[in-house]
Amino acid sequence: MDIIRVEGGHELNGSVHVSGAKNSALKLMAATLLAPGVTTLENVPNISDVHVMGKVLKRMGATIEVVDEHSLAIDTSAVDSWEAPYDLVAKMRASTAVMGPLLGRFGKAKIAMPGGCNLGARKIDMHILGLEALGVHFDTDHGYIHADASDGLVGTTVTLEFASVGATENLIMAAVRARGTTVIDNAAREPEIVDLANMLNEMGAKISGAGTPVVQIEGVDELHPVTHRVIGDRIEAGTFIVAGALMAGDEGIDVVGFNSSHLGMVLKKFELMGIDIERIVGGVRVRRAERIRPVDIQTLPFPGFPTDMQAQTMVLSALADGSSVITENIFENRFMFASELVRMGADIRIESHHAMIHGVKGFSGAQVVSPDLRGGAALVVAGLIADGYTEVSAIHHIDRGYEHFVSKLVGLGACVERATRPDSIDD
Ligand code: UD1
Repeated sequence: MDIIRVEGGHELNGSVHVSGAKNSALKLMAATLLAPGVTTLENVPNISDVHVMGKVLKRMGATIEVVDEHSLAIDTSAVDSWEAPYDLVAKMRASTAVMGPLLGRFGKAKIAMPGGCNLGARKIDMHILGLEALGVHFDTDHGYIHADASDGLVGTTVTLEFASVGATENLIMAAVRARGTTVIDNAAREPEIVDLANMLNEMGAKISGAGTPVVQIEGVDELHPVTHRVIGDRIEAGTFIVAGALMAGDEGIDVVGFNSSHLGMVLKKFELMGIDIERIVGGVRVRRAERIRPVDIQTLPFPGFPTDMQAQTMVLSALADGSSVITENIFENRFMFASELVRMGADIRIESHHAMIHGVKGFSGAQVVSPDLRGGAALVVAGLIADGYTEVSAIHHIDRGYEHFVSKLVGLGACVERATRPDSIDD
């Protein structure tokens, strides 16, 4: 069993460069289906979720050349299948992002139903309602969704009940090829959606308003391949900022390779918690907080506080000088990591979607299990300040979204390693 072992108490210094954004790269890869030919994506993170999306595209007939560790040349000219199979969708729910582009290019898609996952129900009803409004007919059998738009997609106004990231993206990727104009009302505004719209516009699409609640898409007859650079990962950056706030030496650490305005609400809350954050070229410099003030936080769609930073922030709150409440509004089951942090000495009580956190003086290293991607990274970060050794297992979750996490931490001076722990003889 692979684990990440952390020896706590080592000061962090220097600079860390974050990778390209996972949540952009996955959708940009799906969007290459819309432009027959070779699209080159740069600054793609080398993480397992990207590998899964690569497999999804290859199964459809695309070829992918790994130009270098972070550049992929994706040729979608020969795509002749419209299916996202269950074995891959079950591994990564974001593979449903191919539905919009497949409908846009071929007028059909067959997507395995994602089913539940450990962040709760995570339905795709809003994707389906929105696409139906554009003229797509849906049918389900044997665990698959069959989407058909053989009569063509027709632009219309779609009002989303909730500003869903995935639904906004799927709708944009279908609507770029619809006849006429589509308006998405109550669209999600995440920076990754702006990145997607930017690439599609470079390909010849006519999208305006991405990054605002109203996105307008004028359909076009074809899109052409381009070369596009993925934006930096704001969530990876936020994770290293938490590490710096806990363990940076006198000079602080520099976290670069991302746009700090993409972390606006996170940086604002961290500053209220007493963390010294300086904007520098290409990122931020963060210094260790002598005292962390308790601050209440609730997760919300962008520009609100991202759910993907909730666990890492709870590590800070758990060491604050007082009590605070974190409210999770986006996903059910996103507090699973809290019970692991309690094993390290935190004082956290969960009531429905609220976490009541009473700050403690410190953590003690323990064996803990990574419950999901962000929770796993948060446990490693907690280990940096814990007394003794922390061993985080189920680290495949972390590999989904953090490129070279261990070596980046080691580069900052942390004492962290990947290791193999023998499975229990009772297993
Ligand atoms: C994306 C991100 C994820 C992030 C989330 C919220 C990717 C690959 N993942 O996920 O990291 O945490 O945005 O910022 O980009 N919902 C429905 N019906 C739908 C769609 C969503 O009920 O049709 C619900 C979900 O169950 C969830 C909420 O809406 O409770 C938000 O989901 P959404 O914004 O769609 O997140 P994802 O796109 O899945």
